[in-house]
Amino acid sequence: MKMEEKKDNHLLMNILHEAQEKHGYISEQVLKQISVEQNIPISRLYGVAKFYTMFHTEPQGRYVVEICGSPSCILNNGVQIEKFLEREIGVKIGKTSKDGMFSLYKTSCIGCCDEAPAIRINGQPHTKMTVERVQVLLKKLRTAFKKKKKK
Ligand code: FES
Repeated sequence: MKMEEKKDNHLLMNILHEAQEKHGYISEQVLKQISVEQNIPISRLYGVAKFYTMFHTEPQGRYVVEICGSPSCILNNGVQIEKFLEREIGVKIGKTSKDGMFSLYKTSCIGCCDEAPAIRINGQPHTKMTVERVQVLLKKLRTAFKKKKKK
């Protein structure tokens, strides 16, 4: 890969990150807007947005829950945590709950291997997870979500 291409890709990733932070996800409309403003073919933008799991092209839940799917976490009950989250939230990996509260994803190592298993919620890591700890966390998030909805 040429140096110029590397720089372009880095810039492209930054643009998509910013767009996602601003809008919550990268819609087709946002991709079209970036394409026009930055003079980047929409097919290229769409390809990058779809390729990287960190980019979301669909609306996301209020809480984006990511389960680490790398070896340290898998070997330390990560699978049990994953199954529990799927059951509790009521969706499979890659989906958003109907009430719009949770989106559930699997991700690669989040840098907390020494405190496995780890998950991330809206970018915040939570480590040494157990089914009980996940239960407490979900309860807190549900309470916060309901309070916010009432306002
Ligand atoms: S393997 Fe899960 S945080 Fe590194």
